[in-house]
Amino acid sequence: MRTIAIVGAGVIGLSWARLAREHGWDVVITDPRPDLENVVAEFADDEHVRATSDLAEAVADADLVQENGPERLDVKKSLFAEIVQAAKPDAVLATSSSSISATLIATELEDPARVVVGHPFNPPELMPLVEVLPGERTAPEAVDRAVELYEALGRVPVVIRKELPGFVANRLQMALSREARYLVEQGVVSAEQLDTILQNSLGLRWATTGLFEGNVLGGGPGGIRHLFAGVGAETGKIEFGVPSTDPEVVENLFEQVEDTYGVGPEAYERLRDKRDHRTRAVLKALRAP
Ligand SMILES: NC(=O)c1ccc[n+]([C@@H]2O[C@H](COP(=O)([O-])OP(=O)(O)OC[C@H]3O[C@@H](n4cnc5c(N)ncnc54)[C@H](O)[C@@H]3O)[C@@H](O)[C@H]2O)c1
Repeated sequence: MRTIAIVGAGVIGLSWARLAREHGWDVVITDPRPDLENVVAEFADDEHVRATSDLAEAVADADLVQENGPERLDVKKSLFAEIVQAAKPDAVLATSSSSISATLIATELEDPARVVVGHPFNPPELMPLVEVLPGERTAPEAVDRAVELYEALGRVPVVIRKELPGFVANRLQMALSREARYLVEQGVVSAEQLDTILQNSLGLRWATTGLFEGNVLGGGPGGIRHLFAGVGAETGKIEFGVPSTDPEVVENLFEQVEDTYGVGPEAYERLRDKRDHRTRAVLKALRAP
């Protein structure tokens, strides 16, 4: 039986906790918030889940410490200073951070060898990807161990060797998102139409085949070379737009998106349930022989 310590019981932390339970791990959740008992109420009848406000105690027995606190360097640095002292020598000490590198978090640590980024895609209980980014002083063994532990949790870890801002998945998302905002701002399509276009083309394609794999298919038997020489030679000339930062334009975009999808807790729960239901169905279909 393995143990995960969840540091920070917000959106991401609680989702990691659910994933770990699904895989039979013991879970210890820590967060200084005064309403911690309420936040972890969904695990109240589960004897394999424990919550405590004591960080050192929470991480003491963990094989994997998964930190999901606020996205602030000062907070992550002080959390890891304590985690490094209290965790087992062979524990992997990972942060879910979307933007802060292991190198920066570990700058002042005497023992940085076990610290890695283990960046999930929201929600970690459903999205298989974990981007594993070692810092400059992370030991190769810690990276191997992180990969092994994430695989044991049914995830698909990918080790990324350069600490680029946004890592890889979010860089791709941002590139597409910038062009999407530009197209909506220019009135080429509505926000709703843009989502319809994506869901019925690239979204579906990329759930089943990779981008480069799609290039091979797009070229027919001639493969990627044929695609690049033909259609690709024309589409390769397109210059992309830059979305506006004008507050009025951005406000218009927000209003359009909120009018389409709703806003507030009711909308969040409705959209989240739809997303989770559909994602589970797609994952099940992809696992089928
Ligand atoms: N939300 C996303 O889509 C997403 C995706 C991937 C990664 N991440 C990363 O996950 C981390 C958490 O993001 P989130 O969206 O769950 O945030 P969140 O605001 O929902 O949760 C943060 C939690 O950290 C707790 N916290 C505050 N100070 C703390 C401390 N000293 N020790 C322990 N816990 C503390 C807060 O009480 C809160 O419960 C961030 O680093 C973020 O970059 C977020």
